[in-house]
Amino acid sequence: MNISFSGKIVLVAGGTGGLGRAVSLAFLEEDAKVVATYRHEEEFAALQRAAGAKGVSLEGQRVDVTDEAAVVQLVDRILAEHGRLDAMVNTVGGYAGGVKLWELESRVFEQMLTLNLRAGYALSRAAIRPMLKQKHGAIVNVAAKAALDHGAGASAYAASKAAALAMMDSLAADVKGSGVRVNSILPSIIDTEVNRKAMPDADFATWPKPENIARVILFLCSEEARVIHGAAIPVYGDS
Ligand SMILES: NC(=O)c1ccc[n+]([C@@H]2O[C@H](COP(=O)([O-])OP(=O)(O)OC[C@H]3O[C@@H](n4cnc5c(N)ncnc54)[C@H](OP(=O)(O)O)[C@@H]3O)[C@@H](O)[C@H]2O)c1
Repeated sequence: MNISFSGKIVLVAGGTGGLGRAVSLAFLEEDAKVVATYRHEEEFAALQRAAGAKGVSLEGQRVDVTDEAAVVQLVDRILAEHGRLDAMVNTVGGYAGGVKLWELESRVFEQMLTLNLRAGYALSRAAIRPMLKQKHGAIVNVAAKAALDHGAGASAYAASKAAALAMMDSLAADVKGSGVRVNSILPSIIDTEVNRKAMPDADFATWPKPENIARVILFLCSEEARVIHGAAIPVYGDS
């Protein structure tokens, strides 16, 4: 299977995060030029070190991707420098849960919508225009199993992920037949450092690794997935 990204420009939003870092590294491994957004210099420096020799194809952009104007500027900079945008993967998101709806702080509700919905809105809105002009491109938004599976104590999180899923589904319908593909993925608990610290007694072996999920994202962005559009792909194995 050929999933080389040689000569391709890929934007990975949240590219230094638990999943985003694996996504950035996987694209670099397949010879893409990767523009990774980050918030903390030390996290980008760590990604650069992990990229090793492939780091020459890695570019960091410190951007708050919930800021629409900043995201437009980011995409404009990519186009000015590279002349194209082949794929955009949004791995920015956050979790808050364990609280019943009537105990949830409004601030947390807003935060979930901002991180899990507004970021994807700003990024997709900015990325889709050049992709439509190119008649080519792939967008992958990271939602969550909770978008479909609405458990107790997760009202804001589940609502924000469900809305993100609906938004991408509708966007996929908007661009039908354009050559641009839009898909979502649905992780459950991922084997990240943060989750290991939060749930030290869990059996980590049952959690999908970020690297495994990154391969699914690469596939979705590749020509091999040209028949996959408007999908929501579960990436939680049998856990
Ligand atoms: N981890 C899981 O078990 C799990 C399960 C289901 C779904 N997901 C989803 O998978 C995605 C990735 O999760 P993750 O575990 O990799 O999360 P993560 O480690 O927190 O990574 C998210 C990344 O987004 C960045 N970010 C946050 N707010 C931002 C903003 N306003 N502007 C720019 N960047 C921002 C974070 O930067 P900072 O580090 O500076 O905050 C971080 O690099 C999220 O959408 C999450 O909801 C994760």
